[in-house]
Amino acid sequence: MTTFKVVTQSTSPYIDQKPGTSGLRKKVTVFQQPNYLHNFVQATFNALSIEKVKGSTIVISGDGRYFSKDAVQIIIKLSAANGVRRVWIGQDGLLSTPAVSAVIRNRVGSDGEKAFGAFILTASHNPGGPHEDFGIKYNSENGGPALEGLTNKMYDLTKTIKEYLIAEDLPNVDISSIGTTSFQGPEGAFEVEVFDATEDYVNLLKTLWLDSTGLKIAHLLSYVGTIFDFKAIKNLLARPDFSFCYDALHGVAGVYAKKIFIDELSADESSLLNCVPKEDFGGGHPDPNLTYAKELVARMGLSKAAPVSEPPEFGAAADGDADRNMILGKRFFVTPSDSVAIIAANAIGSIPYFNSGLKGVARSMPTSAALDVVAKNLNLKFFEVPTGWKFFGNLMDAGLCSVCGEESFGTGSDHIREKDGIWAVLAWLSILAHRNKNVSTDSKLVTVEDVVRQHWATYGRHFYTRYDYENVDADAAKELMAHLVNVQSSLPEVNKLIKQVRPDVADVEKADEFEYKDPVDGSISSHQGIRYLFQDGSRLVFRLSGTGSEGATIRLYIEQYQSDSTKIGTEAQDALAPLVKVALSLSKMQEFTGRSSPTVIT
Ligand code: G6P
Ligand code: ZN
Repeated sequence: MTTFKVVTQSTSPYIDQKPGTSGLRKKVTVFQQPNYLHNFVQATFNALSIEKVKGSTIVISGDGRYFSKDAVQIIIKLSAANGVRRVWIGQDGLLSTPAVSAVIRNRVGSDGEKAFGAFILTASHNPGGPHEDFGIKYNSENGGPALEGLTNKMYDLTKTIKEYLIAEDLPNVDISSIGTTSFQGPEGAFEVEVFDATEDYVNLLKTLWLDSTGLKIAHLLSYVGTIFDFKAIKNLLARPDFSFCYDALHGVAGVYAKKIFIDELSADESSLLNCVPKEDFGGGHPDPNLTYAKELVARMGLSKAAPVSEPPEFGAAADGDADRNMILGKRFFVTPSDSVAIIAANAIGSIPYFNSGLKGVARSMPTSAALDVVAKNLNLKFFEVPTGWKFFGNLMDAGLCSVCGEESFGTGSDHIREKDGIWAVLAWLSILAHRNKNVSTDSKLVTVEDVVRQHWATYGRHFYTRYDYENVDADAAKELMAHLVNVQSSLPEVNKLIKQVRPDVADVEKADEFEYKDPVDGSISSHQGIRYLFQDGSRLVFRLSGTGSEGATIRLYIEQYQSDSTKIGTEAQDALAPLVKVALSLSKMQEFTGRSSPTVIT
């Protein structure tokens, strides 16, 4: 067996290693600086406490973006030196973010061990390549992103780090083939186990499960149900009047799409677009929205420039690490805010996992209130949390939330502690399968658009749009936010200004900065976005993105509720035009940023 030595290397701190909404994201060139990654990983081990790290099992994998292969080898060497007992790696270093969560929660090793945590190597929906982004995020024992207490500690330690431990002479491990490599270090054995990236995740979606008392190890329990009814979905996909298309945007979702949609559900190979993972995502921007998922958008008949005669009935896309999703019908876009509301409203009956009921539902603050209306109607517990998936984790661990979602194309459930792009697609396919169960192929298929329009007719419609101003000067962005807080201090002034711009817009009745008190641990998160709440239920929200790697991104969220059934068919951009005008004027967007239009509209 190969032996290795542990070396203590001295290092100097970097001052910019504060994890954002979802880990540390920087340009690859920043990560390539001497010891940059080493410092961050060692600081994470120190923050977790070396006693706990010793003897543990750690997962290392990600979306396969450029620099991942180097990063995996570096983290293996740091793990070995810090006394980690074994590392688990998806084949080729690939694991989607939801799959990592599933591996942490459900994978059981040969001697009964479970993972202590994971380093996820991804910058999610940001582009990849030598001049693009890399990222690293730590997930804890519950399978969810590290909470702020831990990430703050990590950051503090990166500011004072003086040395790290490394097994420099440990040879690089072949992560392209499945199997276990064992080494002998000063403190005993160290193992690197490479496994099939789809194994744990697919088992989780297909077989069972959890009960109300918490997490159980799947294969030690007797079978009690499934998350999804794969057979029902398979029947839907086999219908001659149904067609399906999935775009992985060259992210890691491709690995899972092949396994689930083709091998398990027998969809046609031609249903998959861009499903070969690439280090640079084929030069694209792996964010599933109407701007970046161009090929899918065109195929679904949503591109005016490239009309198609017969688009598929259902289309979906994922981001780089496969935790985000976009759901499309034929020539029809489902807003993420509607998507989570519709999943919640249809969960019982369509998705076996929810057959015993929903514990509660939750959304992030900027997400539209479509879910609120469902919660109210179905008498469900409801929570509004700040942006960031980690806030849902606490609710789920406490048994308060089954389904949650965000406007930023994230949807998921308490089957894991990350949002889950493929889960969202399967949830939608389950709803369609259920709705079409008794519809013969001679009659008209109930489509995605039908499901959404019926939902609006029942619950009312939340017109919704988001304007992103990317890569704005950071100081200008801060000034704009400060200006908005300042303006909030006088509502009569705000309303006067609004009337000057658009007399037809309702009055603002409340304006504040969103603050959240976690109902489980009592922690308070302040400054989570600036809100203007209107008398008619409309909202304007402004926030700075926490996931960028350069400059600042201002996000403007615009929402209007309409319960009048004669008006719910209006085009969203038309319905929202007055509010958009008010938002741009209130914020002095052009004055502060120099931008006359947003970079992306979703
Ligand atoms: C990541 C998180 C999401 C969050 C999103 C916000 O994707 O996992 O939970 O909604 O970032 O991004 P932003 O750029 O708006 O801070
Ligand atoms: Zn992502």
